[in-house]
Amino acid sequence: MSFRLVVLASGSGTNLQAILDQLHGHKAGEQGPLVEVAGVASDKPNAGALVRARDAAVDTAVFAGGEYPDRGARDAAIGDWADERGADLVVLAGYMQLLSADFVARFPGRIVNIHPALLPSFPGLDAIGQALEHGVRITGVTVHFVDEGVDSGPIIVQRPVPVPPDRDRGALEDAIHRTEHAVYPETIRMIAQGRVRIDPRSPRVVIIDD
Ligand code: GRF
Repeated sequence: MSFRLVVLASGSGTNLQAILDQLHGHKAGEQGPLVEVAGVASDKPNAGALVRARDAAVDTAVFAGGEYPDRGARDAAIGDWADERGADLVVLAGYMQLLSADFVARFPGRIVNIHPALLPSFPGLDAIGQALEHGVRITGVTVHFVDEGVDSGPIIVQRPVPVPPDRDRGALEDAIHRTEHAVYPETIRMIAQGRVRIDPRSPRVVIIDD
């Protein structure tokens, strides 16, 4: 039995690429299952992520907003597509749409997102710009479960990234993206190994078993 990922992405897909390179077709540890990217879907027909998926011979689909009466209808179609592919985990990798409550309920504890800040600081758009503007000296990367809110679900893993002394945006972006490309595959691997669970006494807290 493999552990199957369905990835949703709107942009260039460098996080998808890290997942393809580090996880797709690899076993999640000695005892762990084989991890497979079973599909990549986007809301943007020209997303670079779709090219990366096709290059890796992974199934793709486009769910463009204009083709559905509302977000619920689009999310239902994405959910059907993910289920058809046997998704164990829905991985948001730069997916720029908010998912409906019905979609979140359909995949309970089975949707993850990566955010380029140390949540709950700087949720939403342009987290790197928000952090620079605020003057923080340390920002970072968060991988979290997805709930109905914006970047508000239980935190799984966080990694700090120092802001460069000259506060150069490009250098900070590079450092954050390098960190993302390590931390997202590591976190997904732990989930595939069955080591990640919500604390039954405290639903915001995530426990990672050794
Ligand atoms: C990443 O910075 C991620 O944290 C955010 O969107 C960006 C996606 O970049 N959610 P890419 O498309 O994976 O290159």
